[in-house]
Amino acid sequence: MSNGNKKPVYISFATQKGGAGKSSFTVLAASIAHYLLERNVAIIDCDYPQLSVANMRKRELENIPKNEALKKLAITKFSEHNKSSYTVETSTTASAIETAEEIAFKQKNLDYIFFDLPGTVNQSGILNLIQQMDYIFAPLSADRTALESSLSFLLMLRQFEEIKSYAFWNMVDGREKTKLYDAYNKLLAEYNIPILETKIPYLLRFRKDAIDYSREGIFRSTLLAPSYSMLSESRVGYLCDEIFEIVNK
Ligand SMILES: Nc1ncnc2c1ncn2[C@@H]1O[C@H](COP(=O)(O)OP(=O)(O)O)[C@@H](O)[C@H]1O
Ligand SMILES: [Mg+2]
Repeated sequence: MSNGNKKPVYISFATQKGGAGKSSFTVLAASIAHYLLERNVAIIDCDYPQLSVANMRKRELENIPKNEALKKLAITKFSEHNKSSYTVETSTTASAIETAEEIAFKQKNLDYIFFDLPGTVNQSGILNLIQQMDYIFAPLSADRTALESSLSFLLMLRQFEEIKSYAFWNMVDGREKTKLYDAYNKLLAEYNIPILETKIPYLLRFRKDAIDYSREGIFRSTLLAPSYSMLSESRVGYLCDEIFEIVNK
């Protein structure tokens, strides 16, 4: 099925590991693109049974109207900018591409579709789906076993020559030596795995919904734009600058 226009770019934050930040960055990047960069996005949540993104959207739809400040923010956003929230759809991995094509058929102006994939490549259908991605961004954390599994995932992606894949450091502990990261970066360079420059620190606010931090500024939300101060403090703004520069090349 063709939408008669351009095909949206398929992007996934993926690794073989759970708890790496895949769903968090899916939401952050999608919201930055949609609410701050004037792009049009959709998310397809294929990570059953967690469905972190779909459940976050559900929680937000329930909770934001109960919080006066957030409600006001949401109303202003959607009426001033004349832009609605983006679609969050759930799908099995087997039918995710079909779901994406249906969404793109209905929303002709879509720029990006983000796929939140399960953290395993052993499940049937996942490799087939991964092959359809244009870009994969793999969050890495600097412990040995996590790194080994991420590395094997990134090397596995090599067989799909059309996918452009990049790694980036997440959950960087301020106490860890930059030397350690330099050593790991060298290792990744030896394998020719491109790594983004921005390192994302370990920050507690990743663990909370927008409603928990409404006073300090919005961070991770499927309905509201992250605040500029949060984006700079968390460095997620810089990371997404790098990501969208790559994707828009
Ligand atoms: N940089 C970070 N600092 C602190 N917590 C983080 C960071 N990145 C992700 N997290 C948290 O780690 C947990 C797992 O992240 P999540 O995005 O759900 O990972 P995945 O989708 O890969 O399983 C979540 O509670 C998330 O909020
Ligand atoms: Mg997840």
